[in-house]
Amino acid sequence: MNLETLCNTNLPLDQIDAVNNALKMCSQRIKKRSVEVEVIVSPTQKIQGTLEEMVHIFINLINNAIDAYEDNNKLGLLLSFRSYENKDNLIIEMQDNAGGIMQTNLSKIFNPYFSTKGSKHGTGIGLYIVERTIREYFNGEISVSNINNGALFSISVPKVI
Ligand SMILES: Nc1ncnc2c1ncn2[C@@H]1O[C@H](COP(=O)(O)OP(=O)(O)OP(=O)(O)O)[C@@H](O)[C@H]1O
Ligand SMILES: [Mg+2]
Repeated sequence: MNLETLCNTNLPLDQIDAVNNALKMCSQRIKKRSVEVEVIVSPTQKIQGTLEEMVHIFINLINNAIDAYEDNNKLGLLLSFRSYENKDNLIIEMQDNAGGIMQTNLSKIFNPYFSTKGSKHGTGIGLYIVERTIREYFNGEISVSNINNGALFSISVPKVI
């Protein structure tokens, strides 16, 4: 193994590895609850960047979905990961069914210190860092919408050609 592989900086990374590693890191929280996970992500399409950064992004999204699910106290949480591509970009989505985000908050959730969890449970810094990381490290963008009683986060990054 050479030093470049060891450091894993800015190499083409498999998006499926990022999703799977993040799910592993959150496995304690996932196992404790009734969480169904669906991963329909291209096993071959690569992203230019650092694996750890992308894992960190998904950890934030997963933890937020579990938090929202606990707040709503629903019967089963479904986390659904999908990817597709257009001409220039790879789009990776994570959708949950945890109740979604209040319409008036949709434009605020990427702001620093915006949280609906109270200071004991949330600092409001998570999605701020996520948005910045995607923009600065991956040259991409993230957007959010509500769909089917849940939130849909969509990450768009340039394709590795
Ligand atoms: N999947 C989701 N479903 C519903 N609301 C969400 C979801 N993800 C984020 N939010 C909302 O966006 C807010 C901001 O999220 P963010 O991750 O930035 O901060 P936080 O989770 O409150 O705190 P932390 O800094 O610990 O992550 C949350 O407080 C919550 O109101
Ligand atoms: Mg958070």
